[in-house]
Amino acid sequence: MPPMTSRTLKSIIYTPLTWSTLHHHDISRMSLFICLMLFSSLSCLFWYSFLNQTLHLQKRPPDVPQRNISILLWHWPFGRSYSLAGDKCLEMYNISHCHLTDNTSDFPTADVVVFHHQEISHGLSSLPLHLHRPASQHWVWMSLEPPVNNANLAQFDGLFNWTMSYRRDADIPIPYGKTIPGGEEHIFKVPANHSCLVSWVVSSYKPEQARSSFYQSLKKYIPIKVYGRWTKEMLSDKKLLPTIANCLFYLSFENSEARDYISEKLWRNAFQAGVVPVVLGPSRATYEALAPPGSFIHVSDFNSTASLAAYLKLVAADRKKYEGYFQWHRTHAIKTYTEWRERLCQICVKYPNLTAKQIYQDLEGWVSS
Ligand SMILES: *[C@@H]1O[C@H](CO)[C@@H](O)[C@H](O)[C@H]1NC(C)=O
Ligand SMILES: *[C@@H]1O[C@H](CO)[C@@H](O)[C@H](O)[C@H]1NC(C)=O
Ligand SMILES: *[C@@H]1O[C@H](CO)[C@@H](O)[C@H](O)[C@H]1NC(C)=O
Ligand SMILES: *[C@@H]1O[C@H](CO)[C@@H](O)[C@H](O)[C@H]1NC(C)=O
Ligand SMILES: *[C@@H]1O[C@H](CO)[C@@H](O)[C@H](O)[C@H]1NC(C)=O
Ligand SMILES: *[C@@H]1O[C@H](CO)[C@@H](O)[C@H](O)[C@H]1NC(C)=O
Ligand SMILES: *[C@@H]1O[C@H](CO)[C@@H](O)[C@H](O)[C@H]1NC(C)=O
Repeated sequence: MPPMTSRTLKSIIYTPLTWSTLHHHDISRMSLFICLMLFSSLSCLFWYSFLNQTLHLQKRPPDVPQRNISILLWHWPFGRSYSLAGDKCLEMYNISHCHLTDNTSDFPTADVVVFHHQEISHGLSSLPLHLHRPASQHWVWMSLEPPVNNANLAQFDGLFNWTMSYRRDADIPIPYGKTIPGGEEHIFKVPANHSCLVSWVVSSYKPEQARSSFYQSLKKYIPIKVYGRWTKEMLSDKKLLPTIANCLFYLSFENSEARDYISEKLWRNAFQAGVVPVVLGPSRATYEALAPPGSFIHVSDFNSTASLAAYLKLVAADRKKYEGYFQWHRTHAIKTYTEWRERLCQICVKYPNLTAKQIYQDLEGWVSS
């Protein structure tokens, strides 16, 4: 309530009233006018102040309506599109006020425009640089690939406001999976079939990768069952997990050792199959921070592939030791992310916390840091 002066009083009384635009101010103003004609001015001003406040409180809706955030996906990652009809974030993930669109005509009204790296990497012409970019619009650079697969980044300096990647320090982190609280009473039972010790699925084998030389060395000491395009023993989506589940261990070897880069090779191939992962990727400290406690064997814990092989044989022969790698099921669970739509909806969850004014002047520097 502003302090009542003779000027506000005058404006209250003399501002013209029209019935069509009548609202609570007008009602309180009219009653003040009638009051002033009948009673003392001081009591009337108290009455006005009281009435105005009461009407104002009544008029305020119980919930301030939340604005919808509009997210425009400029290209579908790897050319595979999914339906965005309806209110997908609400229907699929219970995230409200989050509108996804892939219609580039929505550019002028989009709050956020998301660009997946693969489709824009070949040149700036794939970006809408010719269109007027609203001042409040944020552009997001999105990639789930490690730095080595994100080519030609220098051209994007000073274009993007936010990053979206598996990295924990991305503006919108979109990991392949995460550890969540929640235990099960009956934990995993060691499979009866011990016929297979270790398996590995590899589609693109490159001798220069660290995981390849590690495999070559490890297989001198223990048999490793290899599936995938490289050995021409492809597994269908349906067969993948049951096949991996036949072996006690799985080589969750990342194709690139990069900060926070832990892919579906851990979250899906090993954990969802219910086998113990042998991990090669970021540091042990990173796995400790992201994976369930005591859930994995890290290659860096061993001086040599011979000692790792010896350890795997030891654990395979010791039921109690093997079961120890599943104790985390009592206190933790995992959640995997596979849907681009779910990842896009995460922008809305994070939106209130994002730095509004921000520009990546050196995107390549950030990606390779
Ligand atoms: C937000 O989007 C929903 C679903 O599309 C729609 O029903 C609602 O009217 C929109 N709300 C606002 C404030 O625009
Ligand atoms: C959906 O979200 C709302 C609040 O965001 C919550 O109250 C409700 O329990 C959620 N529903 C389900 C089915 O998770
Ligand atoms: C995209 O939006 C424009 C304008 O709203 C509309 O005319 C057009 O049909 C839409 N395109 C598609 C593919 O839905
Ligand atoms: C045991 O594992 C082998 C090799 O992985 C597989 O061929 C066989 O079908 C499995 N047996 C059972 C009973 O699951
Ligand atoms: C690793 O090697 C060092 C020195 O070569 C040795 O002292 C240590 O015991 C070894 N550790 C394991 C786990 O084999
Ligand atoms: C946003 O920030 C608040 C305060 O730091 C924090 O409690 C909340 O978890 C954050 N939400 C998200 C989605 O990051
Ligand atoms: C987003 O980045 C663009 C390009 O660098 C910049 O012009 C714009 O001011 C940034 N937007 C915000 C809200 O920081």
